[in-house]
Amino acid sequence: MKRLLTAGLAIALFAPQAFAEGDADKGKKNFNKCKSCHMVETADGETIVKGGKTGPNLWGVVGRTAGTADFKYSKYLVAAGEAGLVWDEEEFTAYVADPSKYLKGYLDDNKARGKMNFKLKKAEEAANIWAYLTSVSPASEGADSGS
Ligand code: HEC
Repeated sequence: MKRLLTAGLAIALFAPQAFAEGDADKGKKNFNKCKSCHMVETADGETIVKGGKTGPNLWGVVGRTAGTADFKYSKYLVAAGEAGLVWDEEEFTAYVADPSKYLKGYLDDNKARGKMNFKLKKAEEAANIWAYLTSVSPASEGADSGS
């Protein structure tokens, strides 16, 4: 009986986070690495994370076409968006690991250089941040709860 309980507990403890899915609570902390350059602010101007203006607002970045927020992007990130780049977890994780390298690959252009001078080496943190940004962003385009 006791052994069964322990086994059940182990499964319960492991199942939720250990694999694949990012952890939004951790992502909120991991976002500290981003907020020197990025804020998270709703379309209504409500601040979710106070941050710098070196990079674009990351509210609503989930499902957004790259390079389309109100920001002066590099021509390369804009070109990637025009070529069809939409942020999902996979593209986001690859991009933040090495933005310029990512753009070189995406655009098949060795001269491509992004404006984001930061690399997030830990894919696990990228997954957490993605989960966090998803949790504070609108569910999908046009599905705004309309406060
Ligand atoms: C040193 C400043 C800086 C830091 C730190 C930084 N970024 Fe950026 N980020 C930028 C800039 C500048 C751009 C615009 C890139 C361009 O135009 O090529 C950008 C662009 C982006 C984009 C594309 C957004 C869009 O609208 O298409 C994403 C996604 C992103 N950053 C995520 C992150 C995440 C996540 C972190 C933290 C792990 C982070 N950034 C840390 C400066 C930064």
